[in-house]
Formats: sequence, C-alpha cells, structure tokens
Amino acid sequence: MTAADGNPAGLTTPAEPTNPAEPTSSDAANPPEPTWDERYLAAPALWSGHANAVLVAEASALPPGTALDVGCGEGGDALWLARQGWAVTGVDVSGVALARAAAQASAEGLTVDLLQIDATVTGLPAGPFDLVTSHFLHVPRDAFLALVDGMAQVTAPGGTLLVVGHDRSDITSGVRRPQHPDRFVAASELAGRLDPAAWTVLAAEPRRRTEADHDGAERTVHDAVLHAHRRA
Ligand SMILES: C[S@@+](CC[C@H](N)C(=O)[O-])C[C@H]1O[C@@H](n2cnc3c(N)ncnc32)[C@H](O)[C@@H]1O
Repeated sequence: MTAADGNPAGLTTPAEPTNPAEPTSSDAANPPEPTWDERYLAAPALWSGHANAVLVAEASALPPGTALDVGCGEGGDALWLARQGWAVTGVDVSGVALARAAAQASAEGLTVDLLQIDATVTGLPAGPFDLVTSHFLHVPRDAFLALVDGMAQVTAPGGTLLVVGHDRSDITSGVRRPQHPDRFVAASELAGRLDPAAWTVLAAEPRRRTEADHDGAERTVHDAVLHAHRRA
C-alpha cells in the first residue's frame, strides 16, 4: 500500500485497528483497538501519498474512464488516477482520511468524488465503473468476500477489477501487518468468486516486492493480487 503496509516512506504506524463494522469486545487485558479515524489522527499523514505499485503497473496501460477506489484512505491511488485523466470516486469509512485526500486534490486542482461510507454496511456506489480498485482494505473475511462480490457487480462490462491485499505469508515477514488471520484472503479464492462466463482472470497470485520494516531494513513481502477483466 502507500504506507507502512508497503509504502515507500515506511512510516511507523500503530497496530491495525479493528474494522468499525466488526463487533469488538474489550476488557482491561484487551483494550479496544483504535478506529480508523483515531488511527489517522495519530499522525499528520499515515501513508506516503504515492500510488500503490500494483495499481501503477496494471492501470497505466488502461484508457482513462470512470474509476472507483474502495478504501481510498488519504487518496494516494485515487489522486494518481485523477492525474491520469480518470473520473474517480473514492470511498472510505474515515472522514479524517478523506479530508486529507480532498485537501490534496484541491491543492493540485484535481476533482475527485469522495464519499464517507462504511462499505460493508452501505454497499458501494452503483456505477458502473470502468475500473474498480481496492488496496489493503483489511476488512474481516466474510465482509471482505461480500464486498469483493459488490466490487465485481459495479464493474462495467469491458471494465477492470483490481483487488490487492496482503498475502498471509506476510504475517511472519517482519513488517507490520494485521494480526488477525481472517484479514488475509488468497487472490485465488477471490478469483473463484467471479463467474468464468463473464470474467477473464488476468492474475490471481501472490506478487513479491520489498518493504522496509520498522527499523528500515528491506524485507520481502507478497501482495495478494486479483486482476480481472469483465467481458463486454
Ligand atoms: C490500510 S488502509 C489503505 C488505504 C489506501 N487504499 C492505500 O493503499 O493507501 C485501509 C483503508 O480502508 C478503510 N476502510 C476500512 N474498512 C472500511 C470500510 N468498511 N468501508 C470503507 N473503508 C474502509 C480505512 O479507513 C483505510 O483508509
């Protein structure tokens, strides 16, 4: 991602928060995890502002159209797409993150449609979108699978679906990752949810890259990459 979970800046960040949609229980031994807003408020910028490498690799060759970025955070990907000429809608549960994305868009004279929603509760804007992209959403497994189904539904015929998460092997990679096993879903499992009659899976794989750990040492990590084309 564009931050400590794979960002070039390698910012140190607090522990991964519980998704706001996920019920939490807490006691003295298990204090509640921070919400995404609380997490964003802990630093002036949580992520680097750069676009994620997989997005740049896969979307650079696409003709600009309409795009939806699910869990857009501070807007690294959404603003990169807008700079390439895409008409972008970014959705995120955190108003703090979206305000930062809006400020950066304004500073650059870019127009990006930013919506504060919990996508696991409200669902997604109807679209359809020529590109639906989501990086490192960290939503619990069942909600995530339902959300990926929703992303597929709002992808236009002829459009592209790009869903990127952390590969489960990253738990022992030495970089900061969610410690909940149910935040990791293999790309092959996501691909299996797409109707083969309507979709061509271009990639469903763990993709290797390096990322700095909290001491600045480069570690090998893997992104779980689903890249699919919806037939026209
Ligand atoms: C790890 S960050 C990734 C941000 C961005 N995609 C990037 O790569 O820089 C995950 C983002 O997903 C958002 N998020 C988590 N759960 C969400 C939900 N249920 N609905 C909408 N956004 C959510 C968080 O607020 C956060 O901005």
